Amino acid sequence: MNILAIESSCDETSASVISNGKIRSNVVTTQLIHEQYGGVVPELASRAHQQMILPVVEKALKDAKIAKNALQAIAFTRGPGLMGALLVGTSFAKAMALGLAIPLIEVNHMQAHVLAHFIEEPRPSFPFLCLTVSGGHTQIVRVNSPLEMEIIGQTLDDAVGEAFDKSAKLLGLPYPGGPLIDKYAKEGNPMAYDFPIPDVPDLNFSFSGIKTSIMYFLQKQIRQNPDFVKENLTDICASIQHTLIKILLKKLTKATRQTGIREVAIAGGVSANSGLRKTLGEVGQKEGWQVYIPRFEYCTDNAAMIAMAAHFKYLAEDFTDQTVSPLARMEW
Ligand code: KG4
Ligand code: ZN
Repeated sequence: MNILAIESSCDETSASVISNGKIRSNVVTTQLIHEQYGGVVPELASRAHQQMILPVVEKALKDAKIAKNALQAIAFTRGPGLMGALLVGTSFAKAMALGLAIPLIEVNHMQAHVLAHFIEEPRPSFPFLCLTVSGGHTQIVRVNSPLEMEIIGQTLDDAVGEAFDKSAKLLGLPYPGGPLIDKYAKEGNPMAYDFPIPDVPDLNFSFSGIKTSIMYFLQKQIRQNPDFVKENLTDICASIQHTLIKILLKKLTKATRQTGIREVAIAGGVSANSGLRKTLGEVGQKEGWQVYIPRFEYCTDNAAMIAMAAHFKYLAEDFTDQTVSPLARMEW
């Protein structure tokens, strides 16, 4: 059973082939055009997807050594994401499925981030908790089975990836700033500066306050010393990262205690953060969790995770028809 999967929700055009649950190829191209604008420009993302989608799909088929007519289904990201970007992948998938007269499978991007854990060993056992952290989302998901998940906590405002990127922007770093904060934090002192931990009810998060407090902190310091950021970049990055990780781990710990679940996974772009990976391992050891962290390339956006989700949907005969359209804010 061979499925081609397409991911085009944000600024990565990606295609992957999965055969009987095993990933055979995963081609990811990142659109570099957005860097000069300090964030993803939706219109430019759509145009770049349009340009890249055919070569990316062809390369995924070639890498997998699978001919088009050996495919049994076409999967695509239906949402959440940028509408114009999603339209490119959705339309391409629909056209290809129509041309080959095979079924279509729609995939929720955030659920696919969670299912990236089933690409390789070790795989979590059910039920497990997944902290899903990306540029658009921050969620604690209770995963009962591959197709049965429930959000038990989430951000009430900004996503943690946004907090990383916006903090980086305040420091004059280019987009996306998350990986750069990670890089500089490695050389800094995480205790150098103190930022407040917000008091948010239940298992929910809030990151807009911390962004504002970082802004005021920097303004005040720069008034006293115009070179403050340049002279203390590593310490500032380490302190910001430390605070964001602390917020995440506090709620994750609360969730494990509340549910009694000790199988704990992380997913999404921010799970590529080396500080988060390390801290999760340490807290996990202390709390007695079995921790699952996907390989770096399966953390950020990729079509292999869409293919993995599609594999489970194919087995459940959960297909979609040609009238489907993308959803920028896709519910579960
Ligand atoms: O999942 P993803 O690739 O795309 C979305 O669906 O949003 O996540 C992108 C986010 C961006 O905010 C980016 O800055 C962040 O993940 N990110 C990181 C790191 N790598 C990517 N944040 C902190 N440290 C990293 N190493
Ligand atoms: Zn994502």
